[in-house]
Amino acid sequence: MSDTTHTAGSGPAAGASGRARILTGDTPTSTGLHLGHYVGSLENRLALQGSYDCYFLIANVHAFTTLAEKPAEIRANTVGIVKDWLAVGLDPERSTFVLQSEIPAIAELTFLFAMLLPFNKVMRNPTLKTEIEAKQLGDTYPFGFPMYAVGQCADILAFRPELVPVGEDQEAHIEMCRDVALKFNQMYCGVGNRVPAEEHARAGGLFPVPRAKIGRVARLPGLDGVNKMSKSLGNAIFLYDDAKTVQKKLNKITTGRQSPTEPGDVNNVLMKFVDAFIERGRAEEIKRRYAAGDNLGDGHVKQELGEAINALLEPMRQRRSRLEGPEGEAMVHEVIRRGVKKANAVAEETLFLAKKAMGLDFGRRTIG
Ligand code: TRP
Repeated sequence: MSDTTHTAGSGPAAGASGRARILTGDTPTSTGLHLGHYVGSLENRLALQGSYDCYFLIANVHAFTTLAEKPAEIRANTVGIVKDWLAVGLDPERSTFVLQSEIPAIAELTFLFAMLLPFNKVMRNPTLKTEIEAKQLGDTYPFGFPMYAVGQCADILAFRPELVPVGEDQEAHIEMCRDVALKFNQMYCGVGNRVPAEEHARAGGLFPVPRAKIGRVARLPGLDGVNKMSKSLGNAIFLYDDAKTVQKKLNKITTGRQSPTEPGDVNNVLMKFVDAFIERGRAEEIKRRYAAGDNLGDGHVKQELGEAINALLEPMRQRRSRLEGPEGEAMVHEVIRRGVKKANAVAEETLFLAKKAMGLDFGRRTIG
């Protein structure tokens, strides 16, 4: 073991408050977040924001993997996502909003972590593969596209969180991130090969090996009932949609069912939405009657769904209305500025410790 090996046993990274950390994020490739994001991750963030030290990241550098020619779009989407977060109720007083492009430690850790991941393993990452297919990237994607999966490991580990609340589609990325943490701790912090993942931090590893926390609805289908909900597939209900738009979109769902007395398929897209957005007891009753062909029409179900979803979105609309105009824009920029400052303090510390463990501690810098 070299004398530069990190053995301080910093333990699970906890914020100034002593609370364990969470990190998760969104990529600003679309104008805003949709219901799939809500049930997949935002809901968990809201639930955890009181008891964890939370870091919410806007992966604006990653947005360039597919939108490099549209920087203005990425910029507008970035502001849109911050507005969505504020509208949903993520609270910048309690949580830290992290703008990826302003955190140099993330870029530096990406390069260092790239050495710990076999090239072929990155290229086989199922989340990347699915994305290449869904976005029809063929073999035209830039080098930076698979690179973002390595970058995501750095997004996460820069904050040394214990939990990463994400939708099911991100699981492969979290798995890769765990691989990086394990390898780093073993290679540079002297953690033994047999030490179980959850013991790494206690055994002197710099990085707690983070776990994914999958949302209540792992994969919400889009309105087409085939693909997952996604802006690029045009099958999404956005958090910023008004009440009429929500109902109009729901009304377009097709199930192939002919009449309210025809026994319905309780696994169809409409029923998945019922499960996701209508209170448990009532949802069970709807499904029972639907399956039995007990005079419950698709139109009626869509109406009830519309009411439930609009009730969920209404408080968000109210909060969002306060973010309009130049004042709202200024508020968003202020939130970003403050978040960047807090985030850099943490990420710089992690980078310093990582470099120290790697024998790269030749100087210490401060970012103000
Ligand atoms: N790739 C994620 C998505 O598109 C966004 C993301 C970037 C992220 N960095 C992250 C999520 C770190 C969790 C943790 O949804």
